[in-house]
Amino acid sequence: MRQDEPMDATRIVNVADARRKARWMLPRVVFDYIDGAADDEVTMHENEAAFREIFFKPRMALGTTQPSLDTTVLGTPVTLPVLLAPVGLVRLMHPEGPVGVARAATCAGTVSILSTVAGSSPEEVAAGSTGHRWFQLYSPNRETAKPLMDRAAAAGYEALMVTVDTPALGNRERDLKNGAAAKLDLRTVMKLAPQVLARPGWGVGMLRSGSRSPDAAGRHALAIGRSLGAALTILVSPYTWEDVAWIAEQWDGPVLVKGILSAEDARHALDAGAKAVVVSNHGGRQLDGAPATMRVLPEVVDAVGGKAEVMLDGGVRRGSDVVKAIAIGAKAVLIGRPFVYGLAAAGQAGVERVIEILRADMVRTLSLLGCAKIGDLDRSWLQPFRP
Ligand code: GLV
Repeated sequence: MRQDEPMDATRIVNVADARRKARWMLPRVVFDYIDGAADDEVTMHENEAAFREIFFKPRMALGTTQPSLDTTVLGTPVTLPVLLAPVGLVRLMHPEGPVGVARAATCAGTVSILSTVAGSSPEEVAAGSTGHRWFQLYSPNRETAKPLMDRAAAAGYEALMVTVDTPALGNRERDLKNGAAAKLDLRTVMKLAPQVLARPGWGVGMLRSGSRSPDAAGRHALAIGRSLGAALTILVSPYTWEDVAWIAEQWDGPVLVKGILSAEDARHALDAGAKAVVVSNHGGRQLDGAPATMRVLPEVVDAVGGKAEVMLDGGVRRGSDVVKAIAIGAKAVLIGRPFVYGLAAAGQAGVERVIEILRADMVRTLSLLGCAKIGDLDRSWLQPFRP
């Protein structure tokens, strides 16, 4: 296949394959931004490995052929318990960018969460899509948080996700090595130019969509030469629990706190007014050496004790992974890299394809388990779990 030909989304067979195709479509600096993580990337790999340590306890001869995946997240009905996580610089992955992601979520019957640093403004995404959208908030202080929250509320975002694991930016060495975090000088341009020239389809798509983009935020993210590092300083948000409580008071709707890795912090989040907590180590992009999310999910679920919804992200690559997280007590999972690989490979259609692959996996897994509906899952469907 020629590098500048659009990819047929139906050719994506699984998440690993979407990743291979994304690598083929994107300049290395962009691919590595999404694919990489902090330091030695140990936590990123642990997230995936932790799923592989959990085994099912299937029940036979129950005739389950059409299991249902319908559920709700914070009262919103979804057709499967998989949401699209907030992801930085999604705008750089494909010309359809965050609008394509929001549209894919709606078509698939789920919710997408727009990152503050996605590269498209909340208004632009709201104008280009329908359906359920949530907004994720990064902000260095309360003064800049308030206008962003007001804009998100005015643009119809239904819930607010506060990410609490970014008091500093993780040490993403692939970005440093690629020159993504460097200032735009001649050396950096010389380094990036061959990567971009090797991906003419991406380059032309970005130029076209950049010139169409009505808002400065889009152009800001498109300024890859201005360095991803500069764009990412925006995500440094040194929140305290008092700030989170303040945000929850200001926001007229549910607040989710993302970045929880212990029972203690889950309790802090609830005290601050969270209606949901997301067990997350930021896909291993922040603190390398943080625990795999599946290993701490049980203690968080137990600490929350039904007083709020618990979600999880990190390492989900198969529908069977989603089933494992739900069985332990998560209400839903968030996927990040998997849908971004799909987006980079084939735009909105690629995102939809990845969701459909996970859906088909989940239906098959529940059938093989003998479980008629997602709501019936609990820890009895797993072999005794060793956290
Ligand atoms: C953005 O949230 C990032 O982790 O790069």
